Amino acid sequence: MDNVTLRIGFFGMGSMGGALLRALAASPDGLALRASNFDAARREALAAELAVQVSDAADLEAQVDLARWSDILFVAVKPGGVLPLLAAVRPALRPETLVVSIAAGISLAALEDALGETQPCARVMPNLGARVGASATTYCLNPACTAPLEALLTPVLARFGSALRLPEPQMNLATAVAGSGPAYLLLAAEALIDAAVAEGMPRKHALALVQALFEGTGKLMAQDGSEPAALRWQVTSPGGTTAAGVAHLEAAQVRAALAGAVRAARRRADELA
Ligand SMILES: NC(=O)c1ccc[n+]([C@@H]2O[C@H](COP(=O)([O-])OP(=O)(O)OC[C@H]3O[C@@H](n4cnc5c(N)ncnc54)[C@H](OP(=O)(O)O)[C@@H]3O)[C@@H](O)[C@H]2O)c1
Repeated sequence: MDNVTLRIGFFGMGSMGGALLRALAASPDGLALRASNFDAARREALAAELAVQVSDAADLEAQVDLARWSDILFVAVKPGGVLPLLAAVRPALRPETLVVSIAAGISLAALEDALGETQPCARVMPNLGARVGASATTYCLNPACTAPLEALLTPVLARFGSALRLPEPQMNLATAVAGSGPAYLLLAAEALIDAAVAEGMPRKHALALVQALFEGTGKLMAQDGSEPAALRWQVTSPGGTTAAGVAHLEAAQVRAALAGAVRAARRRADELA
């Protein structure tokens, strides 16, 4: 492995692969980046935007070359495509190449079945926040992924946002909470905007307000560090407007709905395995 430049390859440049690649391309010091993807228009657009070499995923020779070239190989294709793809490029992988799957539900054991248990593997679950360097990422490693390899991986993950190592049995749960989490919060944002519009606010004002609301609340949570309930109590005066709104949400069983969403997403991740 080259000591100066870390070669990072990506199979897949869709929503998540594209977000991760963008985060790395934004500050590429010490990194060399390459990727592959099927869609020609997307390949050309991302290659031009990010100044990254992008090959055609339909070209098996190019796929094999990308696998051989990579020190860290991100597999950012749909879960059903991960294992066949890895089986196809397995002979080209160097023994020290770290294979990183970001697929929901695909276990380390499944990766080892496809690659052999001596191949270093990581299972990583980022979220869309990676696009702005604010992913809530979790990861776990197989035994072949040694401490020096983890030390190579963690600064890469840090470019996406925060990174928390978890025992593998918690990865599907982390997927359900944080991998899928942006969609839950975006749904809440959508509902707040629609409610403001329904009550008479122009849409562009509602959008601006809700954007600032999420940004401010996220910063508060991160900086304060206390339980969200403690912050919420600070803004809930007895008999006030917030108390009335929160009481309505509690009566509508918003907590139960969110708990159900996490259970359903976790079940789906279990099924994908
Ligand atoms: N989206 C999320 O929020 C999120 C969060 C965490 C983890 N993930 C995981 O990330 C993975 C990708 O999800 P996504 O949402 O980014 O899906 P996506 O937008 O459909 O992207 C998948 C990309 O992989 C490309 N691809 C398919 N087979 C390939 C191959 N053999 N070699 C190279 N590229 C190939 C596809 O190209 P074409 O479009 O040209 O076919 C597509 O651009 C999934 O396993 C998912 O579980 C997603």
